Amino acid sequence: MIVSRLIFLIFLVSGWCSAQGYENKTDNILLVYLSRTNNTKVVAEMIHENVGGDLVALELKNPYPQNYKSIVAQVAEENRTGFLPPLKTQINMDKYDTVFLGFPTWGMQLPPPIKSFLTRHDLKDKTVIPFNTNAGYGIGSSFRTVESLCSDCNILEGFSVTGGIERDGIYLAIKGNRKVEVKELLVEWLEKLKPLTIKN
Ligand SMILES: Cc1cc2nc3c(=O)[nH]c(=O)nc-3n(C[C@H](O)[C@H](O)[C@H](O)COP(=O)(O)O)c2cc1C
Repeated sequence: MIVSRLIFLIFLVSGWCSAQGYENKTDNILLVYLSRTNNTKVVAEMIHENVGGDLVALELKNPYPQNYKSIVAQVAEENRTGFLPPLKTQINMDKYDTVFLGFPTWGMQLPPPIKSFLTRHDLKDKTVIPFNTNAGYGIGSSFRTVESLCSDCNILEGFSVTGGIERDGIYLAIKGNRKVEVKELLVEWLEKLKPLTIKN
């Protein structure tokens, strides 16, 4: 009885994995993201459901202020001076060859903690796939900055969707029907990526 249940379970799990097309490949995938109001986190979790791998939320040694105006001012100053905020999260990159990198648009740029991550981790020869949420103004220079900070990586087509508008008090927006919409777009994007991310 136990053996037959075990066989059924193995069958179920392997069927699910091959449906995703990422079978036996998840050990080498890292999903790392920055998120303040959880929109990018929700997208990261959806990618994770589809591709597996290790899901890591980027944390800072000194967290940003809760107040929106204060964080906007601090990020603007960090962008102006090129300050790279120290990270609490340190990742050993050795076992990964594919990195999904998620972040919101901040000040129409790549958030300083993501600049820190790319500067302080060796991603040479890894496949890097950016994904983003924003308040409707798009990715700004963020994807370009990923390319310039990671010139020896293989960067694939990124994914970006509208998330929250914290300025207007709209925090987590990727929920309910919007979450269903985003999921559809995301699955379509992952389908296009699949042949490029699966290595034999
Ligand atoms: C400091 C800061 C700056 C922002 N700057 C922009 C911006 O320039 N353009 C934009 O579209 N959204 C901007 N936003 C909004 C976020 O990109 C948007 O709400 C995103 O979905 C938040 O992701 P999160 O919930 O994962 O933190 C900014 C938000 C913050 C906190």
